[in-house]
Amino acid sequence: MWTTSILVLHCFATLVLAGGSGGKNRTLNQLAVQQGLHYFGSASDNLSGSWDDEPYVDILLKSHEFGQITPANAMKWGLVETQRGVYNYTGGDQLVKAGKKAGMVVRGHALVWHSQLPDYVGTITDAATLHSVTFAHIKDEVKHFKGELIAWDVVNEVFEDTGGMRETIFYNLLGEGYIAEAFRAAHAIDKHAKLYLNDYNLEFADAKWETAVSFVQGLVDSGVPIHAVGFQGHLLVGQVPTVETLVKALSAFTDMGLEVAFTEVDIRMEMPFTDDKLAQQAKDYQTVVEACLAVPKCVGITVWDFSDKYSWIPGVFPTQGAALPWDENMQKKPAYGGIVAGLT
Ligand code: XIL
Repeated sequence: MWTTSILVLHCFATLVLAGGSGGKNRTLNQLAVQQGLHYFGSASDNLSGSWDDEPYVDILLKSHEFGQITPANAMKWGLVETQRGVYNYTGGDQLVKAGKKAGMVVRGHALVWHSQLPDYVGTITDAATLHSVTFAHIKDEVKHFKGELIAWDVVNEVFEDTGGMRETIFYNLLGEGYIAEAFRAAHAIDKHAKLYLNDYNLEFADAKWETAVSFVQGLVDSGVPIHAVGFQGHLLVGQVPTVETLVKALSAFTDMGLEVAFTEVDIRMEMPFTDDKLAQQAKDYQTVVEACLAVPKCVGITVWDFSDKYSWIPGVFPTQGAALPWDENMQKKPAYGGIVAGLT
């Protein structure tokens, strides 16, 4: 009885707030900033043709829904340095320029990752050559975008899904020391960009997260200029950890004095979608937002693009999709309301 009345009262208060100074007519970024986050952002792939899609671009760059933009591909090694020592930053430059014009800050993604590498990297078999190309790449790219970016994902996905270090070409040839060195090299050039270690499935506070916690603690203890840990947030509808688990997972890093952020959020489902799945997805987005807000040094949330029309999910998980807050027709889904509910 009491619990019911309290619940009703709570819902009423939430509704009044949402209709008053809270949710109404405010964009996701405005709500996020009001709650103390630095931004609510979106990734976008300006190389994919999506930027010829006017309704899409209107939401991305004109609606003020997003205060931060991350290139989904344009700054990756395999796209900027297809031949050793030959750099092409056209895509990244376009995104930075458009983002800034739209009043958005920009995150850099990603300097060293085992995926989407240029072909020549995969053929390297000796440590000296790999070291030389890796650090030449890091230095050139950080220098190029110096002053333009609030953050860099310095290393991406360096942990194995079941715990331990991922056995990438970098780890196998250079040993884990290249990670500390990468942070030092980036920081020596750009003192202002927040330097991130970015990975997925850290949200579950399980074995992979335990590896991350002890590895990152080691970097911090050695004075490595790592400033933050990015939680990608590629999650599944109905399988999102609780707010408590997420807060635990995030806090392990903020307790070390680091920032955290959700950097690539999407919450996918088995297709076809149903109203029930979309409703669950709204709750799941709300959970992620609530967790970030509950951790003082969680600085922002980025969705990995905002419209299902341009989501990477169906390409990689063929039976899954509908992972983002806007549908393929640029209409807001219940997930959008879930984010707003989390932010109000
Ligand atoms: C994805 C892009 O969205 C796709 O367009 C591309 O084909 C593959 O990469 N984790 C990351 C991102 O860190 O860079 C990935 O982006 C998604 C998973």
